[in-house]
Amino acid sequence: MTDLATSPAADLAHAAAPAPASADPRGPLDARALAADFPILAQRPHGKRLVYLDSAATSQKPTVVIEAMDGYYREYNANVHRAIYEIGERATQEYEAARVKVARLINAPAAHEIVWTRNATEAVNLVAYSWGRRNIGPGDAIVLTEMEHHANLVPWQILAQEVDGDLEFIPITDDGLLRLDVFEVLLRLRPKLVAFTHVSNTLGTINPVREMVEMAHAAGALVLVDGAQAVPHLPVDVQALGADFYVFSGHKMLGPTGSGVLWGRRELLDAMPPFMAGGDMIREVKLRRSEYNDVPWKFEAGTPDISAAIGLGVAADYLRDLGMDRVREHERELVAYALDLLPREVPGIALYGPSADLRGGVIAFNLPAIHPHDVAQILDRSGVCVRAGHHCTMPLHERLDLAATARASFSVFTTRDDIDALAAGLREVQRVFGV
Ligand code: ALA
Repeated sequence: MTDLATSPAADLAHAAAPAPASADPRGPLDARALAADFPILAQRPHGKRLVYLDSAATSQKPTVVIEAMDGYYREYNANVHRAIYEIGERATQEYEAARVKVARLINAPAAHEIVWTRNATEAVNLVAYSWGRRNIGPGDAIVLTEMEHHANLVPWQILAQEVDGDLEFIPITDDGLLRLDVFEVLLRLRPKLVAFTHVSNTLGTINPVREMVEMAHAAGALVLVDGAQAVPHLPVDVQALGADFYVFSGHKMLGPTGSGVLWGRRELLDAMPPFMAGGDMIREVKLRRSEYNDVPWKFEAGTPDISAAIGLGVAADYLRDLGMDRVREHERELVAYALDLLPREVPGIALYGPSADLRGGVIAFNLPAIHPHDVAQILDRSGVCVRAGHHCTMPLHERLDLAATARASFSVFTTRDDIDALAAGLREVQRVFGV
């Protein structure tokens, strides 16, 4: 890890200000107590305590989420927006109430601006197909970054190839910060869209969304933000951030798989054509033409994943009840602890990304001369789960001249004991390899 204070790129250390020590009267998050809310943490892989450090890939689910989904199937399983009997009305009510809960978590102006998708990937694709094909033409530029997850890269590649558009990329510094000076230059191309991640899933970098949105808007571009690694970890206020589209996944924010969200400004969503067509997204259908439903239902063709939406609403309330300032401070403190401990305890470990104040709860690392897949496999014997590979950011790894990394990522239930277990596990990996 490069020391930001001495880095030639120190003037680019622009990311979000560190969260203040929580002003919440409840004080810091009690992760040890919260762990009791997550039944899976009682599992003992290889007879060891489960140390789950892969929440960036998918988070664990609290009992309230599991029970809400179970309750739907046991008590009121029926289709939504179609049934006029009691359990069907309850299903519709809970499904729509979940939208309100998610809107509240991200301070969306209206629940109708919350479009359910299967995941963040589908939400990006929806915008690329629906908004992109209407608004991006030959020679139009889309500005992305070198740190994008494939989900916020490949859909734009396909669009650019189809319409003969142009992709440009904001480079990163060696510390994993975006080069805003280059961004400023790229904006002279008058791009139609700027799309970037709020928090890097590999480096953990928290990007300065508000500042970038202001720059993009001043240049006449719309902005899509990939919030998959932000919504579960820090306060997100889409109105304060000012972006035009904000996407995220349910399964990374303590909710179920198969749930995701596209938030978009109402006037943009209203003007966009449907993405998928079928039942529920229509108001009236004739044999040769149809009139579409209002947003958000215009984008929700077919029977949706009702239980997933309901579970996601409960997850949103769970996070909101914890207080997102407290969640952010908890993870910042854990990252600071890990960035201090790991280099002292694990000889030669290489850590990638910025300092704790500038990153979310994600630490990518490598051990000298040991492949990350071997690291992850041997850590598993100690009950420690980390991801190994390119984390769906192959271009970022290429930029850093790395074939792969191992990655530890945190959540509300992660404790210092978990970081200690990671350090001990990594020493065991080195012992196995005779390093
Ligand atoms: N996007 C998820 C990750 O970063 C799968 O691991």
